[in-house]
Amino acid sequence: MHAQPAPAKTDAEARPLVRYRVWDLTTRLIHWALVLLVVLLFGTAEWGWLSMRWHFYFGYAVLVLVALRVLWGFVGSDASRFAHFVRGPHAIAAYMRGTLWRHFGHPVSHNPLGALSVLALLALLAVQGISGLFASDAIDTFGPLSGRVSDATVRLMTRIHEINQTLLLGLIGLHIAAVLLHALARREEHLIAAMVTGYKRLARDPGLRFIGIGGALLLAAALAFLLWAVVRWGQAVAAY
Ligand code: HEM
Ligand code: HEM
Repeated sequence: MHAQPAPAKTDAEARPLVRYRVWDLTTRLIHWALVLLVVLLFGTAEWGWLSMRWHFYFGYAVLVLVALRVLWGFVGSDASRFAHFVRGPHAIAAYMRGTLWRHFGHPVSHNPLGALSVLALLALLAVQGISGLFASDAIDTFGPLSGRVSDATVRLMTRIHEINQTLLLGLIGLHIAAVLLHALARREEHLIAAMVTGYKRLARDPGLRFIGIGGALLLAAALAFLLWAVVRWGQAVAAY
C-alpha cells in the first residue's frame, strides 16, 4: 500500500519570509493624510470644530490627494499602480477560494478583493469632494462653484453630499473592519504596519521599482494650482 503524498507546500510555507519595501512614501503619506482629513471634515461639518471655512480647506486637500493618488496609480511606484493590483472577477474568485484554504500566499500590494475597496474609497471621496464644491446650506455656507450653476443643481449636489457621506462612512467602517480582520486572521502579514513603514514580509523579492516623492510633490502642486484656479473662477461670480 502506497503512502499518500504530502500536500505540496505553498510559497508562504516553503520559503522564509523576508522584509521587502512595498509602499513608497507618497502612497503612505496620502493614506494617513486622508484618514486625518476625513476626521477633520466630519468634525468641521458635524461637530462644530473650527469653522466651515476650514471644512472647505480640508475638502480641497482631499480633492488634491485623491487626484494625486489616481495619477500615482498610473505613473507612480510599481506597487501603487492600478495595473499592479486591480484584477478581474476570476482572480477575485480565486483569491477568495485561496483565503478559505490559506493557500494564496502573500499578495505584494493590495489583494484582488481589497483592490475593489481601494477603488470604491477613492471614488466615494471624489464624489464627496466634487459635490461639496457645488453644495450649499442656503444660509451662510456656499460651495465655491454653487454660484455658477442653477438652484436645482445646487440642491442635487447638496443632496449627493449628504447621502454620500453615509455611504463613505459605511465603506470606511468596512475597510477598517476588513483590515483588522485580516490582521487577526493572517497575523504574519502586518498590513497596518506595512501602510506605516512601507515594508511587508514576503516569500520572494517582488522586484519593485520606486519613484521618489519629488515627482509626487510637483504633481500635487500642479493639481493644487488647478483647483485654486477653478475655485477662484467659481467665487468671482459673486463680484457681479
Ligand atoms: C478615513 C479613513 C480611511 C480612508 C479614507 C482610507 C482609505 C484607504 C485607501 C484609499 C487605501 C488604498 C491605499 C493606496 O493604495 O493608496 C487604503 C489602504 C489601507 N488602509 Fe485605509 N483608509 C482609512 C482608514 C484606515 C485605518 C484607520 C487603518 C488602520 C487601522 C487603515 C489601514 C489601511 C491599510 C492597512 C491599507 C492597505 C491594505 C492592503 O494592504 O491592501 N485605513 N485605505
Ligand atoms: C471628501 C471630503 C468631504 C467630506 C467627507 C465632507 C463631509 C461633509 C459632511 C458630513 C457634511 C454635513 C452634511 C449634512 O448636513 O448632513 C458636509 C456639509 C457641507 N460640505 Fe462637505 N465634505 C467634504 C468636502 C467638501 C468640499 C470640498 C466642500 C466645498 C469646497 C464642501 C462643502 C460643504 C458644504 C457647503 C456643506 C453644507 C451643506 C449642507 O448643509 O447640507 N465639502 N460635508
